[in-house]
Amino acid sequence: MSEKAQIGVTGLAVMGRNLARNFARHGHTVAVHNRSYNRTKELVEEFGHEGTFLPSESAEDFVASLERPRRVVIMVKAGAPTDAVIDEFAPLLEEGDMLIDAGNAHYLDTRRREAALRERGLHFVGTGVSGGEEGALHGPSIMPGGSKESYEALGPLLEDISAKVDGEPCCVHVGPDGAGHFVKMVHNGIEYADMQLIAEAYDLLRHVGGHTPAEIADVFKGWNEGRLGSYLIEITAEVLKQVDADSGKPFVDVVLDQAEQKGTGRWTVQAALDLGVPVSGIAESVFARALSGGADVRAAAAQAGLPGPSATAGSHSGDLQADVEQALFASKIVAYAQGFQQIQAASKEYGWEIDPGAMAKIWRAGCIIRAKFLDFIKQAYDKSPSLPTLLVDQYFLDAVSGAQDAWRRVVATAAQQGIPAPGFSSALAYYDGLRASRLPAALIQGQRDFFGAHTYRRVDKEGSFHTLWATSERNEISA
Ligand code: 6PG
Repeated sequence: MSEKAQIGVTGLAVMGRNLARNFARHGHTVAVHNRSYNRTKELVEEFGHEGTFLPSESAEDFVASLERPRRVVIMVKAGAPTDAVIDEFAPLLEEGDMLIDAGNAHYLDTRRREAALRERGLHFVGTGVSGGEEGALHGPSIMPGGSKESYEALGPLLEDISAKVDGEPCCVHVGPDGAGHFVKMVHNGIEYADMQLIAEAYDLLRHVGGHTPAEIADVFKGWNEGRLGSYLIEITAEVLKQVDADSGKPFVDVVLDQAEQKGTGRWTVQAALDLGVPVSGIAESVFARALSGGADVRAAAAQAGLPGPSATAGSHSGDLQADVEQALFASKIVAYAQGFQQIQAASKEYGWEIDPGAMAKIWRAGCIIRAKFLDFIKQAYDKSPSLPTLLVDQYFLDAVSGAQDAWRRVVATAAQQGIPAPGFSSALAYYDGLRASRLPAALIQGQRDFFGAHTYRRVDKEGSFHTLWATSERNEISA
């Protein structure tokens, strides 16, 4: 074979196919391979005119059609299918070649695979890719992990096909081994939180404000022009505007109200629990999906007629629409602050040295959580890379302090009227927790010491102490 491909893609379902087309459209020769050859053939028949594809039926031919060092993008389901593909290709590769997993893999799997392949002289590059099918084709946000060396050989190609902001690629080397997949996982966690907050805003406008979905679509359209401007706000307006062709009802009223999930939000919360980072906004959004999907429990509650607030519950005491915008913005800031804190904690734990500002930078386009305010996150970390929380950056501090009265009114209204708003209220509770000069954690320490002699520290002297609770004197001793 004379011509060799710069990059190969194996796994040609829609994401893989679109990534392959994106590389080809950027002038790269792309080797393509799929378990069943039909898909490979179809890709070349349908889109062959877009660039140069080198189709192969066997893994051996596919590998042979790649220039060295070989770059093989794996785009198959996370978990066992990924391991199967690695097992198939690794023996065919040579030292310095790269296997790039562009699926939503768990970062611990990526760490395991990277270590195993490194032993064999191969680079394993766990790469987050966000933007769905359209993004994969027209420019996703790309979050590659793996070795620096692999990024030197691979980065320029990935940067080429990524989304751009003012000509700058939405792709950067995130850090070693599982760093890329970790960051993609947190991206998805933030995505869950963002979606939950938007859904709560809609619910309040609908059930407290009494607006129709079409009217609320216009509200979101307006918000999209302001500081909330983002892809998720934009598509929310589109979804709310949609009318069901069969029934003539708003689309949102004919869809079953049980949110599904593939698991990346849950992974984010599991990892946060291990790291000890309170990502309450992401956790509430995962739990809210679980609650919505708990059909049996909801049916039992409906049957029992769990009572709501009395008819005298007051109406909202301000401009609902303006207040909800404030609550949404403030809660969103909290969710992002928590997600970024989780990235920083993992970076420290695993020695990844992730630049949080660079993450905000590559999320400004291409990905699902792209939003205007990521510019401010980038600026905050550029100014102070080790910022303990975004909430202390001046822009966010001003935004949240400007929002807080409205935010409190919205949470109060939701509670009084019996509208579930776990995202808004937990974000506010987190905010109040952070600003509290004294937390009731002191009492918890006392309880722990009482029943388990777990000891406590004091505000006024060094060391650990224990009170002899079982004695009548209850004297304190140094522990
Ligand atoms: C993206 C999306 C993508 C996918 C989510 C959906 O960044 O392009 O996040 O990865 O749409 O996994 O997740 P759920 O099915 O769990 O909602």
